[in-house]
Amino acid sequence: MRLWVARILEVEPMTGFPVAYPSSSEGLMATPAYMSASAKPACIQSGPACTQFSGLRRSGFEQCMRVSSSFADLQQFVTARSSRGVVTMAGTGKFFVGGNWKCNGTKDSIAKLVGDLNGAKLEDDVEIIVAPPFVYISQVKDTLTAPIQISAQNSWSGKGGAFTGEISAEQLKDTGCEWVILGHSERRHVIGETNEFIGKKAAYALSQNLKVIACVGEKLEEREAGKTFNVCFEQLKAFADAVPSWDNIVIAYEPVWAIGTGKVATPLQAQEVHAVIRGWMGKNVSSEAAKAVRIIYGGSVNGANCEELAKKEDIDGFLVGGASLKGPEFATICNSVTAKKAVV
Ligand code: PGA
Repeated sequence: MRLWVARILEVEPMTGFPVAYPSSSEGLMATPAYMSASAKPACIQSGPACTQFSGLRRSGFEQCMRVSSSFADLQQFVTARSSRGVVTMAGTGKFFVGGNWKCNGTKDSIAKLVGDLNGAKLEDDVEIIVAPPFVYISQVKDTLTAPIQISAQNSWSGKGGAFTGEISAEQLKDTGCEWVILGHSERRHVIGETNEFIGKKAAYALSQNLKVIACVGEKLEEREAGKTFNVCFEQLKAFADAVPSWDNIVIAYEPVWAIGTGKVATPLQAQEVHAVIRGWMGKNVSSEAAKAVRIIYGGSVNGANCEELAKKEDIDGFLVGGASLKGPEFATICNSVTAKKAVV
């Protein structure tokens, strides 16, 4: 029998939130993520430095994907990976940074932001997208000269027609969008979108050749109750049940308590969940998909904290809200790929 007992033992220094984790033998988070390296269990020790950057996958992966029927298996997966080396990543293999402008901006402020991005020096080995509000997509498309793709912040779940206020995937393609953000916490928790509805949107967007940034993440009370992984797994399952392939999906892990609050997850907190998400993909989709999928972190990422986060092995980039509205700071976040390269 799986017994989950949430125990609050300490307060995390960076977030100020209490640490709660399950006391079950199947629980993964048996130790606060911020403990010193010497006190950390193997499952959260980082791997050895590697010399070559060619993506973010590690050579021990196949062996690690022998995981899988329980959280204990996932823990074993995370532990085993601590000794992986780097091998070439499937797909583009690029670090990925998205700027989610949300419901912000005017024609003038967006012209200024696009001008700043056009003038920024951006590293080559990072894939960058920005997601303007729908009404400014054409303006951005027409004026952006930087190597940045355009994403929508939402799309309708099927073909267009009599759906007042909605925007279809076909229309997004027509205006030059290549990506769409789906399952963002503000769509889930402010607008009330369900897992199933979000999965349906993802499937339809992919069918129209839009690539998808699939967002998952727990609320504060869910983290405190030791439910972080379960919440992420349920949200991932809804995507997995609906989509035919993960080839054109980037997963964004965005803890709700970190979005727009200034309380960024610690690098270890983010890495821990990213590794577990990758383990879930290996168990429930395929080892190939787990290896290839990029898992980006979102929630109060800024120019000051991006490098430490980027260094973590399963953090393949970022989804950025507030800081993406400032061109130079967003460029700094995109260029944190250099910090990644320094440690892999
Ligand atoms: P934030 O937003 O960077 O302002 O926290 C992130 C997001 O909502 O994607």
